[in-house]
Amino acid sequence: MPEIVYAFLALTQQKDDKLSLDIQMVKQGKVNMTAKKHIETALVNAGRDKKFTQGSVNSVIQRASSLVFETVEAKKQATANRAKGELFYGRRGTLTHFSLQEAMCELEGGVGCALYPCGAAAVANAILAFVEQGDNVLMTGSAYEPSQDFCTKILAKLGVTTTWFDPMIGEGIAELVQPNTKVVFLESPGSITMEVHDVPAIVKAIRRVAPDAIIMIDNTWAAGILFKALDFGIDISIQAGTKYLIGHSDAMVGTAVSNARCWDQLRENSYLMGQMLDADTAYMTSRGLRTLAVRLRQHHESSLKVAEWLAQHPQVERVNHPALPGSKGHEFWKRDFTGSSGLFSFVLKKRLSNDQYQHYLDNFHYFSMAYSWGGYESLILANQPEELAEIRPAGGVDFTGTLVRVHIGLENVDDLIADLDAGFQRIA
Ligand SMILES: Cc1ncc(COP(=O)(O)O)c(C=O)c1O
Repeated sequence: MPEIVYAFLALTQQKDDKLSLDIQMVKQGKVNMTAKKHIETALVNAGRDKKFTQGSVNSVIQRASSLVFETVEAKKQATANRAKGELFYGRRGTLTHFSLQEAMCELEGGVGCALYPCGAAAVANAILAFVEQGDNVLMTGSAYEPSQDFCTKILAKLGVTTTWFDPMIGEGIAELVQPNTKVVFLESPGSITMEVHDVPAIVKAIRRVAPDAIIMIDNTWAAGILFKALDFGIDISIQAGTKYLIGHSDAMVGTAVSNARCWDQLRENSYLMGQMLDADTAYMTSRGLRTLAVRLRQHHESSLKVAEWLAQHPQVERVNHPALPGSKGHEFWKRDFTGSSGLFSFVLKKRLSNDQYQHYLDNFHYFSMAYSWGGYESLILANQPEELAEIRPAGGVDFTGTLVRVHIGLENVDDLIADLDAGFQRIA
């Protein structure tokens, strides 16, 4: 597998140096051009082997349940290799799926990628693949609410307990590990409040006290590429590809890229749970990859500009943007990530009354009110502090104002700032 140079935005001096060193080495012929690849190039080319494209630029869309075997011998071969990318039966995938899976493995550095009909299915099935009655899951208290609900409503019924941890826990996580802890589930940055974990400290602590535990992460915010989870010793990197991979708010997909240690179990359990994606959505996911780098670069630039503007605003108490100094875990983002996407939140100094809340949210021009994020468009949602406290099982919240979550899309950023500014005037 070719090594990809993850110099996406080259944010720090160190990263700049590394990039120019790589380029110099390529220029001097010290590195084989095919072995060193920048992320933009990898995104354009991954999964586009001739066997998948068959003469066109993109992979073919192979819609199939039945796949025909010409001979008994061919059927025997396909059966033996059914989990190794050979055409066998639709539920094991077709050329369109194999192309996407190969691309995801190259981009995230895994040996296999399981595909699911949405991100929630990826989270649920990845956890389910590794637990049985009597086991314990350690999950960040900042996880996406349905991921938490999966633990409290489904795993609890199966006799699997959940222990919540503070997203800023770092090495202290070792103290929460029990003899029956099987899965450690991270999400970084956390949903809505955007805390970035100290992943190396968490991984080190878990490997020390529970080497067999499976560590997985919801890596959706980083689109799987701004944070290379598997390089940090995480076993499985999960994405709601619904967000940045699809990128246009018109389809749903989940991905789970695994290392060698977990792949067979993840793949077979997901298969037995009937988890598969239709070929058309697999194709759209691959298509999304081709423009991911440019989209992310713009999301990064615009969201940071908006975050900096908000940080100066007299009505704003705090801005939770991983790339902004002062945001929780900013130092870990700076150390471990190569860029930012477009989702972040901010807390108002005051808690809006019901009337203010409605007047504020109902009247934006460019920010639509909708769940999800990661598309080309800007979105806005707000939560009262007590609503958020309810979905923070590891503890309440440390603010009293209304929290606003925005996804900064690809519109002109000055138009977005003007829209937000008018919003502040409505609640002044
Ligand atoms: C962080 C995170 N993970 C997982 C999901 C679930 O993804 P999906 O909506 O594709 O099921 C979401 C959805 O908003 C999310 O924000």
